[in-house]
Amino acid sequence: MSETRFVLSPGGALTGRIRVPGDKSISHRSIMFGSLASGVTEVTGFLEGEDCLATLNAFRAMGVRIEGPDDGRVTIHGVGLHGLAAPVGPLDMGNSGTSMRLMSGILAGQAFDSVLVGDASLSKRPMKRVTAPLALMGAEIVATPAGTAPLHIRGGRRLHGIDYALPMASAQVKSCLLLAGLYAEGTTRVTEPAPTRDHTERMLEGFGYPLRREGARTFAVEGGHALTATRIDVPADISSSAFFMVGASIAPGSDLIIEHVGINPTRTGVIDILRLMGADITLLDERVVGGEPVADLRVRAAPLQGIRIPEELVPLAIDEFPVLFVAAACAEGETVLTGAEELRAKESDRIQVMADGLVPLGIDARPTADGIVIRGGRLGGDVDIATHHDHRIAMSFAMAALRAGGEIRIHDAGFVATSFPGFVELARGAGLAIRAESA
Ligand code: S3P
Repeated sequence: MSETRFVLSPGGALTGRIRVPGDKSISHRSIMFGSLASGVTEVTGFLEGEDCLATLNAFRAMGVRIEGPDDGRVTIHGVGLHGLAAPVGPLDMGNSGTSMRLMSGILAGQAFDSVLVGDASLSKRPMKRVTAPLALMGAEIVATPAGTAPLHIRGGRRLHGIDYALPMASAQVKSCLLLAGLYAEGTTRVTEPAPTRDHTERMLEGFGYPLRREGARTFAVEGGHALTATRIDVPADISSSAFFMVGASIAPGSDLIIEHVGINPTRTGVIDILRLMGADITLLDERVVGGEPVADLRVRAAPLQGIRIPEELVPLAIDEFPVLFVAAACAEGETVLTGAEELRAKESDRIQVMADGLVPLGIDARPTADGIVIRGGRLGGDVDIATHHDHRIAMSFAMAALRAGGEIRIHDAGFVATSFPGFVELARGAGLAIRAESA
């Protein structure tokens, strides 16, 4: 396979109106819930990225008839909670942690055996966080001795509910257990240490499945109910928008509108953090679309200051730190992040990989065990960036070029297609001097 490299010339500003692709978390869940519902679910705004296509293909491999995606439209002919068929061969989750962790909850409750595999990056990521609590529910899952994929999931197990306090703030683990809970006898109750994205809870309710909220951080489901098909309009992904929010903030002369962005309060940490740094972000035309809040965002360039990032915002901005580190590199003074060790378990070790790219750009970036300290400064150029198969690393350094002193070359950048197909064209249209080469 040829490698895709991004080459960025320095400078530029971001202007005009853009719409980034659909939300990745909601797109995954639309396929999962639509497949397990009875009736036909119509999805619009679906993210046609490789991660969500891995989820879609897995359900097709288990006998679900799915039409599309066609310009973001997907029609799912749900088979009901007990209608999946045994797949022939392993299910390939590609680069997608969300697919693997949520699917393991669903598959633990099936009558048939299954195997989940992933690419080199996904095969290194921790899966014990889901296999251990699933085992407490009665599931039988064999991982590697390191607790990683492939996951061999035994079917025909009787699951029972558990009360589980999540050891880390993870929407993937919470969602995995709630999905397994649909197949369990009795009540599955999950308590999170801090609020994380709540798309699973919202979608359970949207598909008519009873979910009990016990206080702000505990969610409970009982097995034995049904999901009923519905319509889902997927908003644009705030995580994909974040690259442009930072780009427009740091590039003098920028004035950009990002349309129809999902602003679910469990996802808006990036807006809060950027505003604390002095960013000029306005929410326009706030509305609710299909159970999720949405707005157009107007972002104008503004001088940023370094801050100490409040720890309670970390889970609410968990995917946006790579690009927030670029904002910190362009800010006046020091930015300090703590309480973010989860960043080391993403598609790459995002603390180390970002520091490894910022330092050659001339920025003082010092990783710590659970975060990083970045002193803003003048960005250099003529550097080569290694993405470590991580889409968000590639897109973050692309935005850094807006303030760089020379060319930035980003290697292995093809992984942006996992979450953001069309990134290069959209970014170029908005004013980024980017071109993709195959090397
Ligand atoms: C996601 C949850 C987050 C996030 C990931 C998507 C989800 O992971 O990083 O991109 O859709 O539930 P964790 O739950 O592991 O923090």
